[in-house]
Amino acid sequence: MRLFKHLIPIALLGLVATVQADAPAWSAASLEKTLQAMPAGDAMRGQRVHEQYFCASCHGTHGESVSRNWPNLAAQRAPYVYKMMLDYRDGRRHEDERAEIMVVLANMLSEQEMADVAAFYAESGEQERAPLRRDHPADALVRKGDPKRLLTACASCHGVDGQGGRNETPALAGQPREYLHRTMLLFRDGRRDNDAHAGMAQFAWDLSDAEIAAVADYYSATE
Ligand code: HEC
Ligand code: HEC
Repeated sequence: MRLFKHLIPIALLGLVATVQADAPAWSAASLEKTLQAMPAGDAMRGQRVHEQYFCASCHGTHGESVSRNWPNLAAQRAPYVYKMMLDYRDGRRHEDERAEIMVVLANMLSEQEMADVAAFYAESGEQERAPLRRDHPADALVRKGDPKRLLTACASCHGVDGQGGRNETPALAGQPREYLHRTMLLFRDGRRDNDAHAGMAQFAWDLSDAEIAAVADYYSATE
């Protein structure tokens, strides 16, 4: 019965995806207000959401992705996960067909359930992050940036160990290489534009294919 209940909305995928109206882009103020109003999440309830909506079938029992194309959620920052669910729901994030399942699921969750599942992932990151390789060719770009191209060091926002930064700034360390690579190309080419004021995309616009491949390799490290 339960499976049936959740398969019907998934069958409506095409319908939901076509009636979706794009919400206005985030301003710094609207994003701050939304994150401040984020409901308090409960990890135990979040685990039930994770199981009930089959999130585990793609994102793993504890949020460790089971496919190279699907992002890890374990130890991800709760405000980032919450914002992504809102962005999928409200039509801000739909960069390609891979996002469609997330659009459908996000439309089924209440904001309380989104906050709960975000709390579950934030707390399920007990595994040690492998240290980033300082001898990697991407290390200079990540830790020093490139002042000539006005590129701020990735680490200044995403943390020295890729553990994530302020507010919705996500953890990157340990993400599958293919996912990082794909989403960086989407930012660079303007197809992922759910960030407020291109606060992330502007650091991808000037990167070469080789640099994007290198940072994806750097942060995925553990493979
Ligand atoms: C059929 C596989 C599938 C299922 C089931 C699924 N996801 Fe996803 N999820 C994906 C894929 C693929 C992406 C990446 C989409 C993209 O590139 O926009 C994603 C992206 C995400 C992201 C953004 C992660 C990031 O790093 O930006 C979040 C958060 C997320 N999913 C949460 C959930 C939750 C919560 C559930 C259950 C309610 C769920 N997912 C169920 C496949 C799935
Ligand atoms: C000024 C701060 C800032 C800098 C500098 C920055 N980022 Fe980001 N990055 C962000 C924010 C904020 C997000 C979340 C965007 C959103 O809301 O989707 C993000 C998202 C990302 C994501 C998406 C993660 C996911 O799970 O989908 C990747 C990958 C990424 N950044 C890589 C980089 C790399 C590589 C660099 C350096 C070349 C960099 N970032 C520099 C702030 C920054």
